[in-house]
Amino acid sequence: MRESLCLFLCMLHFTDGCYVSDHGRVKEVTGYTGGSVLLPCSCADLQSTVKSFIWYCYRENLWTKVFEDDKHKGRLKLFNERSPANLSLLISDLKKTDEGHYRCETPLGSFIDIHLKVKGCDLDQNKQMIKVTGHSGESVVLPCTCTELQAKPEQLTWTFTPLNPRTNPEEIYPHEQSVRHTGRVKLLNETSPGNLSLQISNLNKEDQGDYRCSVSSQHINIRLSVQEIHKTTEPTQQTEKPTSQQSEDSSKNISVWVFFFTVIILLALLPVVLLLAVLPLIYWKCRGRRDVQKTTGDGQQLVCNQNEKQEEVTYSSVVHVKSASKPAHIQTNMAEHSVYASIK
Ligand SMILES: *[C@@H]1O[C@H](CO)[C@@H](O)[C@H](O)[C@H]1NC(C)=O
Ligand SMILES: *[C@@H]1O[C@H](CO)[C@@H](O)[C@H](O)[C@H]1NC(C)=O
Ligand SMILES: *[C@@H]1O[C@H](CO)[C@@H](O)[C@H](O)[C@H]1NC(C)=O
Repeated sequence: MRESLCLFLCMLHFTDGCYVSDHGRVKEVTGYTGGSVLLPCSCADLQSTVKSFIWYCYRENLWTKVFEDDKHKGRLKLFNERSPANLSLLISDLKKTDEGHYRCETPLGSFIDIHLKVKGCDLDQNKQMIKVTGHSGESVVLPCTCTELQAKPEQLTWTFTPLNPRTNPEEIYPHEQSVRHTGRVKLLNETSPGNLSLQISNLNKEDQGDYRCSVSSQHINIRLSVQEIHKTTEPTQQTEKPTSQQSEDSSKNISVWVFFFTVIILLALLPVVLLLAVLPLIYWKCRGRRDVQKTTGDGQQLVCNQNEKQEEVTYSSVVHVKSASKPAHIQTNMAEHSVYASIK
């Protein structure tokens, strides 16, 4: 048996055919509405090539060619041009009606059946009226999601029925029947197609009422109430007016005291700042003098210390002393000399 199968396959290989892997089997594949799905089919021998394989779908008790079916038009894709042994079929923008049996068949009569299951958007209808509270000027999210978050509803509408006066429901998504919500509603389906929650921004009192999220014949009802933020805070402000005046007065007093203390502190700091400014000057002057002292010798140090407070005078006197020092020194030397001489 095996040998004959091998022989058969080898013959196929040379006769330019394709024996489908998993021949005769039925595979289950699941997709989601609005998404895409791959129906797998490939030749058992990856080297084989096939030119005229056919994808069928089972419709109204008949196998019809998928590529000749109007309902699949523009939503089908094959990959065999790039990889000849890959006969898989990609169906995109899935619809609930795509659900059913498909068959991939090659000219050798080899085939595989695929049972495609398409999960659509179902709303959780067990929920009672959902109550949502928003605040005027802010935004609110009205929750509505498909039980399968991956499923995109084929048709979605959001309607609004004002609370008072109670009028007929008006559509606010995808078409706005009145200007009431213009530019303020946004569908939050960016991350998951099955998230049909509606965001209403810049709320006002007139947004209060009943909202309905509808997908085919299923609904979710939400009652929105809007609370005024300012109304609750205004009365408290009014009653607190006298106290707020008091606090204003006391804050004035505080600022006066702060000013007073600042002035005192500044006055106290002034001498310190002045001293800091003068110190480098004194240092510089003294350094200049020391230079002079070096030239004049040890004898003049006293003069510098004595006249520390009269800078200009000291400097001139030092200069004076410097010029006068030499003769004086010589005189003392001579005096000493004379003393020694007298001993001899
Ligand atoms: C066939 O091609 C599709 C698309 O590139 C790929 O996803 C799939 O895995 C391929 N199948 C096989 C059996 O190679
Ligand atoms: C969100 O919903 C709108 C209207 O139904 C649709 O046009 C859009 O493609 C959806 N976005 C996603 C990511 O599903
Ligand atoms: C739907 O989307 C909104 C905004 O991204 C998010 O806050 C909310 O949790 C989502 N709902 C679900 C059920 O994922």
